Amino acid sequence: MGAQQVREGFVALYGAEPEGVWAAPGRVNLIGEHTDYNEGFVMPFALPHVTVAAVSRRTDGVLRLHSADVAGDAVELRVDELTPESDQGWTAYPAGVVWALREAGHTVTGADVHLASTVPAGAGLSSSAALEVVVALAMNELFGLGLRRWQLARLCQRAENVYVGAPTGIMDQTASACCEAGHALLLDTRDLSQRQIPFDLAAEGMRLLVVDTRVKHAHSDGEYGKRRADCEKGAALLGVDALRDIAYEELDAALERLGDEEEVRRLVRHVVTEDERVERVVSLLEAGDTRAIGPVLTEGHISLRDDFRISCPELDLVVDTAIASGALGARMTGGGFGGSAIVLAEEDDVQTITKAVEEAFAAAGFTAPRVFEAVPSAGARRLS
Ligand code: GLA
Repeated sequence: MGAQQVREGFVALYGAEPEGVWAAPGRVNLIGEHTDYNEGFVMPFALPHVTVAAVSRRTDGVLRLHSADVAGDAVELRVDELTPESDQGWTAYPAGVVWALREAGHTVTGADVHLASTVPAGAGLSSSAALEVVVALAMNELFGLGLRRWQLARLCQRAENVYVGAPTGIMDQTASACCEAGHALLLDTRDLSQRQIPFDLAAEGMRLLVVDTRVKHAHSDGEYGKRRADCEKGAALLGVDALRDIAYEELDAALERLGDEEEVRRLVRHVVTEDERVERVVSLLEAGDTRAIGPVLTEGHISLRDDFRISCPELDLVVDTAIASGALGARMTGGGFGGSAIVLAEEDDVQTITKAVEEAFAAAGFTAPRVFEAVPSAGARRLS
């Protein structure tokens, strides 16, 4: 879906050319899961799938929102009447961004917005972040707000946390706003410092597959928030600001101190070991030992499955089947409880693995998964 198509959709809807067209991608996370709200490390990369927005300014306080992917007319809102958690539908994301910008003191006087997306929704690939970031970037440019990418990501996170009401971390919005083609983004979620790590699997004869299990995940169902609250409880019991402050070498002593807090102990173990896995993956990639990251990804899955307990039978089946049919490594990616898994494989094994996963899903009576190759792509940008 190109800029031209979305531009034409805008003209058909609002009867004039848009001032511009922007795009923001979905993401997969290579490693560093459920570490962002513990102020730890994450390493996502952007997908080629994007949400595209054609946008024009308005000066009369009206915000009109329309999506080519949702049936119905444009939704008309007033920017000075936006209130957190007043809207549970898709418009809460773009409206939430406008609310967050205005609440931070920026002048946004209304807009006409027409959107279309190729990021699969509910697949754990950050379709919400793509939607937020594309609107934030468009508003930033049209209203000359001069905000930096990381600041836009923060405001989008605020829109999601407060306006939509989902207690997510900062990873997805930063990935959509800041990723670069051919790279994974190493992000320290404490101070938002970033490093672009070259990640060109094709050049080394490998591929990274995304397997969307088609099990819809939802953050607001409470499980995500519960994990987050228990991680905060763990940090409080251990007397640190965030679990990021527990060094890997201190893990055993920390677990000992948590005594019979069994649930919290498991979460702490995941977070501390996961931060260490991010470090290991970065070292291996920087040493040119890309194949060796496979087992680290799989370790990450086992930790999410057994300690963090956010996997599901479909995600486990992808990982187990992929590994049994020759994958270098595999893990669930994103928030969990459904959504997608990633599989690192030799180029020559892609077909065998894909077939094995599809057959295993059919044999288990699961809905057929959607499998595609993920190439690290560009972050949010203006298209025209
Ligand atoms: C979701 C959230 C992110 C992050 C991941 C888990 O994608 O939006 O902030 O917490 O789950 O790593």
